[in-house]
Amino acid sequence: MDLFEYQARDLFESYGVPVLAGIVADTPAEAKAAAEKIGGTVVVKAQVKAGGRGKAGGVKVVHNGDDAATAAEAILKLTIKGLPVNRVMVAQGAKIAQEFYFSVLLDRANRSYLSLCSVEGGMEIEELAVERPEALAKIEVDPIAGVDLAKATEIAKAGGFPAELVEKVAPVLVKLYEVYAKEDATLVEVNPLVLTEDGQILALDGKVTLDENAAFRHPNHEALEDKAAADPLEAKAKANDLNYVKLDGEVGIIGNGAGLVMSTLDVVSYAGERHGNVKPANFLDIGGGASAEVMANGLDVILGDPQVKSVFVNVFGGITACDAVANGIVKALEILGDAATKPLVVRLDGNKVEEGRAILRAANNPLVTLADTMDEGADKAAELANA
Ligand SMILES: Nc1ncnc2c1ncn2[C@@H]1O[C@H](COP(=O)(O)OP(=O)(O)OP(=O)(O)O)[C@@H](O)[C@H]1O
Ligand SMILES: [Mg+2]
Repeated sequence: MDLFEYQARDLFESYGVPVLAGIVADTPAEAKAAAEKIGGTVVVKAQVKAGGRGKAGGVKVVHNGDDAATAAEAILKLTIKGLPVNRVMVAQGAKIAQEFYFSVLLDRANRSYLSLCSVEGGMEIEELAVERPEALAKIEVDPIAGVDLAKATEIAKAGGFPAELVEKVAPVLVKLYEVYAKEDATLVEVNPLVLTEDGQILALDGKVTLDENAAFRHPNHEALEDKAAADPLEAKAKANDLNYVKLDGEVGIIGNGAGLVMSTLDVVSYAGERHGNVKPANFLDIGGGASAEVMANGLDVILGDPQVKSVFVNVFGGITACDAVANGIVKALEILGDAATKPLVVRLDGNKVEEGRAILRAANNPLVTLADTMDEGADKAAELANA
C-alpha cells in the first residue's frame, strides 16, 4: 500500500524525522485557513500517489491565505498522471540551500535491502540514475544489522556528502530506516531531503510503501487505506477474504488455485478471439475450501459487476472434492435467488468429478451449462458473453 505524502509526513514526524508543519485541505477555504494557521510562506501540494507533481503544476509556493486558496482551487482541478487531485497539503515553506536524495527499499532480486543516496537531489532520480549513475550511491543494507549511525555514515559518504554534512544527515537516515523497519515498509523515499539556509536537515517530500503482508502486525495501517479509490467490488471481495481482481472484460471467472485461475484467464482470452473479442472480467481464486458460502460470496461479487455477461466456473477437485463444489454451486444459486441472472458454464474435474456433475445435472438449473474440458468451457462462456 502506497501512502500519500501527508501520511508519510505524519509517520516521519512520529519517528522524530525532522519535517515541516503540514495540514491537509479538501477545499480552497480549508487551504486558506491552513495557510493562515501556519503563517508566512507556504507550499500548496497536490496529494496524489504519483511522482512529478511539481512539473504537472501540483506544487505552488504562496505567501498568504488568499493566494493559498487560489492555488488550491487550481490544483484541486488537476488530474496528474490519470489521478484526480482530491486533496492538497499546505506545507510550511522551507528556505532551501541544497537538495538531496535518500531511499531505502526492498531489493527482491538480491533478497536484501538497498539504500540509494545522493548529495545531488532535486532532479528526478530516474534521470540522475541514467545521466550521472556515479552520483547515485547504491549501498546494500543487511536486514539483520539494519542502519545504525556507522552504516548511515557509510551511506551518506558514498552518496557524496562532504564531511560536515555527513554528520548532520546520518542521524536522520537512521530515523528514516527506523520508519522502514518498524513499519514493515518496502520503500521509504525522501526526495528532496534538504539542507535549509539556517543549517537544518528536513524531509520535504516522502514516499512510503507499506507491506500489506505485515498488516496483521500493524492494526493502525488500516486507517491509512484510501477507501475512496478502492474499486467497490474489490472492497466487497476483500471483506469476504476473496482473492479478487477486477479486469475489463465480460466473462466472469471463478476457479480454485491461483495457477488454475491464471490459465483460465488465458484460455478465455483465446476463446474470446472467436467470439467478438470478449475478455475475462476478473481474477477470482476461491482457494482450497470451496464451500457453498465461499462460492456464493464469489458469485455475488462477480454478478455485481454490470460488465459481466457470463460466468465460467473452473474447478479442479482436490481436497475439496467436486461433489462439495457442485453442492456449493447449487446452494449458492439458491442463496442468490433472483440476483443470479447470468449464464454459468461449469467445468469440474479431479476428485469425485462424476458425483459433482451428477449433482449439477439433477439440480437442472437453467442458468448452468456443464462443460467437459477447460477449452470447451472457455469457448462456451465466451460464446454466451457475446450472445
Ligand atoms: N515545504 C517546502 N518548502 C519549500 N520548497 C518546497 C517545499 N516542498 C517542496 N518544495 C520544492 O518543490 C519541489 C517539488 O516538491 P516535491 O518533491 O514535494 O514534489 P515533486 O518532486 O514534484 O513530486 P514527486 O516527489 O511526487 O515527484 C522540491 O524539490 C522543492 O524544491
Ligand atoms: Mg519529490
